[in-house]
Amino acid sequence: MKLKNIENPTRLIYHNPVSLVTSNHKEIKNVFTVSWLCSVSNHPPMVMISVDKKRFSFNLIKQSGKFVINIPNIKMIKDVIYCGNVSRKNKDKFEERNLMYSVSDKGGIILNDTIAYVECEVKNEFDVGDHILFIGEIITSGAEEEAYSNGSWNLKNENAKTLHFLGENGRYITIDEINFKKNNNF
Ligand SMILES: Cc1cc2nc3c(=O)[nH]c(=O)nc-3n(C[C@H](O)[C@H](O)[C@H](O)COP(=O)(O)O)c2cc1C
Repeated sequence: MKLKNIENPTRLIYHNPVSLVTSNHKEIKNVFTVSWLCSVSNHPPMVMISVDKKRFSFNLIKQSGKFVINIPNIKMIKDVIYCGNVSRKNKDKFEERNLMYSVSDKGGIILNDTIAYVECEVKNEFDVGDHILFIGEIITSGAEEEAYSNGSWNLKNENAKTLHFLGENGRYITIDEINFKKNNNF
């Protein structure tokens, strides 16, 4: 990642892209697809993810108190679908998809092919039904410069195109930008 420890890191998920959330505890690591995510505070920088209690990742996040939101671009759609339909209970998804990663100074797993990430420490959690909301404070962050620069996404760039889930398995959209600032006449 060219950009590290970004100013206003909550902006990396302002547009609620589909993400690949990694977690690890002792020798076990995992990755799963999450689309229920949101920024919730700038100072301190806080985000939330909603995790079904049945997920293998749920226990890893509970035990480690940490998670990383990795943002894939549209080129990673097969990884997104695989990691969102297969559980670590049955397969090691890193091996199956040949997912390469590095480990941050704080111990979080950063996937090599994603274009941005925020690494979080769990500060609070809320039982909201079948899911738990994990509220995490961002402790490190990063982005590819061509995808995100000067505090904003460069969504015109093909490599910056993120995935957004339509709710039905296999159906996604990607988004474009309307730059109202440039044509600001009513
Ligand atoms: C596009 C997409 C979005 C998903 N979003 C979430 C989510 O926000 N929260 C969640 O708990 N599961 C979500 N899932 C389901 C999990 O990713 C899936 O059950 C996964 O296999 C769990 O992996 P694990 O058991 O290894 O943790 C999503 C799946 C897809 C395909």
